[in-house]
Amino acid sequence: MKKIAVLTSGGDAPGMNAAIRAVVRKANYHGVEVMGIYRGYEGFIEGNMELLDLGSVGGIIQRGGTKLFSSRCPEFKEKKYQLQGIEKMKQAGVEGLVVIGGDGSYRGAHALTTLGFPCVGIPGTIDNDIPGTEYTIGFDTALNTVVESIDKIRDTATSHENSFIVEVMGRDAGDLALWAGLAAGAESILIPEEAYDIDDIIERIQRGEARGKKHSIIIVAEGVMSGSELAKLLKEKAGIHTRVSVLGHIQRGGSPSARDRVLAGRLGARAVEVLLQGGSGRAVGIKNHQVIDYDFGEAFNLKHKAEVSLYTLSKELSI
Ligand code: F6P
Repeated sequence: MKKIAVLTSGGDAPGMNAAIRAVVRKANYHGVEVMGIYRGYEGFIEGNMELLDLGSVGGIIQRGGTKLFSSRCPEFKEKKYQLQGIEKMKQAGVEGLVVIGGDGSYRGAHALTTLGFPCVGIPGTIDNDIPGTEYTIGFDTALNTVVESIDKIRDTATSHENSFIVEVMGRDAGDLALWAGLAAGAESILIPEEAYDIDDIIERIQRGEARGKKHSIIIVAEGVMSGSELAKLLKEKAGIHTRVSVLGHIQRGGSPSARDRVLAGRLGARAVEVLLQGGSGRAVGIKNHQVIDYDFGEAFNLKHKAEVSLYTLSKELSI
């Protein structure tokens, strides 16, 4: 291969820039040129791209977001657009593609692979919900953002003797909520993977109050329900008044943590190796501290599940 392309797609995640940099530098190291495609699959369809040289990815390793912009592109599910994009790539001499994104982005890459266009996926999402890899790029940074926010909320909750519900992103996955809840010592954590018991949440608050604790923090993953719905439930069932804080898109921004930068570097480099070795339809990931690559099929057949043992632990530590 002499020329490949890279794009970022779906919700952005801190560390995407570091991954773009790694792809470009690793490919250049092997004498391969890299085109940067703008706005994900939208740019792929239009052939909207430009050459990324060594200098063009300088000074981005510490920047959040994605230099290549991102989009969600529902029309890319249609074969005619996939073929149109492949044609644009062929015209520009692009022989393979690295896709940085989440589950939906992998599906687009898989479709291209079945049409004979080589693709490799790099997991980039704050949700940490991609089967086959233990961590996704952006999760660690988002987690730290959430924990910092909860720490701040706890300061004011303590001062005013309030209980707070904090609504955390993650789509259908509970990883962000669970890890953040554990790290910030939340009294209750609600995640989509585990059924919640409203009476148990109420009891925990009341037990705390009985021993003189006048505030508590409840984390709810957006995949369970909204913070305001939970507040309503607590009010109706037990007359408990809570304040609600929805962290929102702040969770997707910010300078990537060192851990996310290193992960991005390792996965970006492996993605290029896989493409150059003739691999296609594969995703890269991390398992037991080792970089791995595996078939996209595996990512679609397995179901991601937040670590149940952490959930059990969170209950034990917040008695
Ligand atoms: O997938 C990342 C994510 O931030 C999810 O956690 C969230 O549900 C979703 O994207 C929000 O997407 P949008 O910004 O398109 O509303």
